[in-house]
Amino acid sequence: MKIAIINGPNLNLLGIREPSIYGNEGFENYLKELRERYGSVTEIHYFQSNHEGAIIDELHRTGFEYDAIVLNAGAYTHTSLAIADAISAIKAPVIEVHISNVHKREEFRHHSMISRVCKGVIAGFGLDGYRLAVEAAIRLKNQEEE
Ligand code: DQA
Repeated sequence: MKIAIINGPNLNLLGIREPSIYGNEGFENYLKELRERYGSVTEIHYFQSNHEGAIIDELHRTGFEYDAIVLNAGAYTHTSLAIADAISAIKAPVIEVHISNVHKREEFRHHSMISRVCKGVIAGFGLDGYRLAVEAAIRLKNQEEE
C-alpha cells in the first residue's frame, strides 16, 4: 500500500512557526516516527511545497498511483478552486488534515474550498491528525479489498 502526504505553504516551518498553534515538532521528525510505526503496512511518501501549482502537479502525479492522499493544503484550503478541481480529477481518495482546529480560529479559516471533494476531514488534533488520517487510509484500503 502507498500513501502520499502532501503539505502546503508554510508547513515547512513546523516547529518554528507559531508554536502555540502548530506545536514545537518539525514535520521531518514526526514523519520518521510515522514511517517507523506504519512501515510494515504502508509506504509513506512525503511532499511539501509553498506553491499552488506544485501541489497540483503532485496531486496529479500521486493521484493515479497511490492508494490515498493525506493533504494539508495550508492557507490554500480556504482559497484554491484549482486544488479542489485537481482533487476531483484524480482517482485516489484525499483526506484533508489541519493541525489546528480551524473552526475555533478566525472566520476566514472556517470555510474550506476542498472539503466537498475530500473523503473526510481531520482537524484540531495537532500532528497526530496525520496519524489519524493514515489509519483512515489503511481502513479504506482494507474495506476496498473485502
Ligand atoms: C492549517 C490551517 C490553515 O488555516 C493555515 O493557513 C495553515 C495550517 C492547519 O494545519 O491547521 O497553514 O492548515
